[in-house]
Amino acid sequence: MQGNFKYYNPTKLYFGEESLNYLKDELKNFGERVLLNYGSGSVKRNGIYDAVVTILREGGKTIIENPGVMSNPTLEKLHEGVRFARDNKVDWILALGGGSVCDYSKGVAASVFFDGDYWKEFWLEGHQPSAEQRILPVGCILTMAGTGSEMNGGCVITDAASNFKTGHVFDSRLMPKFSILNPRYTMTVPLEQMKAGIYDIMNHIFEQYFSDFDDNTSDYISEGLMRGLIVASRAAVKDPQNYEARSNIMWTATWALNTLIKCGKSEDWMVHMIGHSLGAWTHAPHGYCLAACSMAYYRRAMKKGRAKFERFARNVWGVQTAEEGLEALKKWMMEIGLPLTITEIGATPEMIDDIVSTTEIFPAGYLDLKPEDIKEILKESL
Ligand code: NZQ
Ligand code: ZN
Repeated sequence: MQGNFKYYNPTKLYFGEESLNYLKDELKNFGERVLLNYGSGSVKRNGIYDAVVTILREGGKTIIENPGVMSNPTLEKLHEGVRFARDNKVDWILALGGGSVCDYSKGVAASVFFDGDYWKEFWLEGHQPSAEQRILPVGCILTMAGTGSEMNGGCVITDAASNFKTGHVFDSRLMPKFSILNPRYTMTVPLEQMKAGIYDIMNHIFEQYFSDFDDNTSDYISEGLMRGLIVASRAAVKDPQNYEARSNIMWTATWALNTLIKCGKSEDWMVHMIGHSLGAWTHAPHGYCLAACSMAYYRRAMKKGRAKFERFARNVWGVQTAEEGLEALKKWMMEIGLPLTITEIGATPEMIDDIVSTTEIFPAGYLDLKPEDIKEILKESL
């Protein structure tokens, strides 16, 4: 293992079909006034909202509702939530939804007691809240598997005015205090979102796997997660009501991005940076944006990271060469119905310069990209 690292993850997880039963016990740890954040209504249609609200009321909580947290939450909605939380003097936040609601809740929690321009401070300049700053605790009831937001400090916000989508990874104070993961809840997720979530999980693993060449325990864990995900994704696409598959997908999502498999790694994240920019311009689901630019990106990365791509081919797909490994990945993506081009998610050649202009670029993984390289990758992905 390379380097020195700290591993600390304070999120308590409750997993399984009965996991909502634990919400009652958790309520004792938090104040009376809860900000309940949720999305555009799926939790009302599938009954999860009613079940949660009943438990909150029985636990003596005053519920302050903040519906309408959109997929890929916007800066405007963040401002609204911060104002609302301040006006209502909430004690804590409960996120009820997918990664968007969970991310958004962390953003509000970090910003409510920040005196100044929190967007600039946390997202644009990447600072952490000071040690003295009060932060609202966040709990999460997850309804969609993919982002890992249920057990990390990530918070991705889109400034819709400038089509700039950017994330901040908050420190452990913003990781959810608890997360309830009931795979049954994910059964009503639309098929497109399920597939997007599956590729998001896979790509989180890639972003941490395709870097460095050393023999590293984190990479062995990653290979196990990838193999499990391939099996579960095939089963879930064939039968979305397959509990075994959906539960494995949900658990893999959590471990793919909860700070474990990055230990001792330098990481990459450039597919995510391109994907975020694609998302801001096309509004396609996050995982689809990643899938659409992945093949061009990894063909390029393979040239510099051949030994790792050979290991990927052997240990994940059971084939020999780096090229065969990427081909196996492509076949799997086609098999489960993921987009392989940015055209499929609504990007046009005319949009490429704009997408490049809002892509954040870091030296990462095997590549050190310049804006013209991003342009090439996008053109190859049309
Ligand atoms: O609006 P609602 O009604 O909640 O509907 C949502 C939304 O339309 C729906 N949905 C969720 N659970 C459902 C359901 N529909 C029916 N039944 C259910 N049980 O699915 C749609 C997508 O939900 P969303 O939360 O937007 O998806 P996801 O979980 O993929 O989150 C995407 C956001 O997370 C960010 C992305 O950039 C994006 O903004 N990410 C966060 C990360 C993190 N915290 O570490 C890392 C990721 O790489 C990612 O960037
Ligand atoms: Zn992602």
